[in-house]
Amino acid sequence: MEAATLAWYRTNGRILPWRVTQDPYAILVSEVMLQQTQVARVLARWPLWMTQWPTVESLARASLAEVIVAWSGLGYNRRAVALHRTCGVIADVGFPTTYNGLLALPGIGPYTAAAVACIAFGEQRIPEDVNVRRIAERANGGAPFVAPDGLAGELTQALFDLGATVCIARRPRCHACPLAGVCPTAGQTFAPARRQAPFAGSTRQRRGALLRRLGAGGLAVAEVDEVIAAGLVRDGLAAVADGRITLPAR
Ligand code: ADE
Repeated sequence: MEAATLAWYRTNGRILPWRVTQDPYAILVSEVMLQQTQVARVLARWPLWMTQWPTVESLARASLAEVIVAWSGLGYNRRAVALHRTCGVIADVGFPTTYNGLLALPGIGPYTAAAVACIAFGEQRIPEDVNVRRIAERANGGAPFVAPDGLAGELTQALFDLGATVCIARRPRCHACPLAGVCPTAGQTFAPARRQAPFAGSTRQRRGALLRRLGAGGLAVAEVDEVIAAGLVRDGLAAVADGRITLPAR
């Protein structure tokens, strides 16, 4: 199963800019972005980010306000705060090279730690994202994939691509799947997953809108939605002083 997936990837894998680097910082940035944002959108933003802040140290030196502004449009803005904080620690103590070391950083969860450990440092570990889990459940009875020695990073990328382009959520393209011959669910379709709540009018949208206004300059606290503002402050995305709300200074 793993061998067939790797063989498929070698001819069908997507060529993505964060796959042609071994720089752990570049890979960290890509994985933090890709966690909750689609590849097409990340493709439009990651190269700019890497030009603006090519190293851990440069990002660590940037103000948090600049980083939040640059993140705008990627969504789930707390990730920008976490990435900035993490790079501050890495700039001081060096880049951890293992899953456990990465997981100990502030703002790095099990998914990101595993992705960076296997892709940047070759650790034998496959991160569990929704795509990877879906393929394991359909094709492998839920058992995790096991990478051949030294190929965990490549197998991970292969599973990302298989999940994004072939073993998709509702109507998988089994005719194009390297696992169809051994997959017990080949040819099946699947019920729609729980619908995502509409974005328009959501808290997430209102948070994004207020954050963009703050990017253009501070506002009087009295002018803004109290609950939305409090959420941003709680998440380190905004600060309040003297009756004004602004992006955080540091
Ligand atoms: N989703 C999460 N990480 C990814 C990666 N490195 N390439 C493509 N999709 C991803």
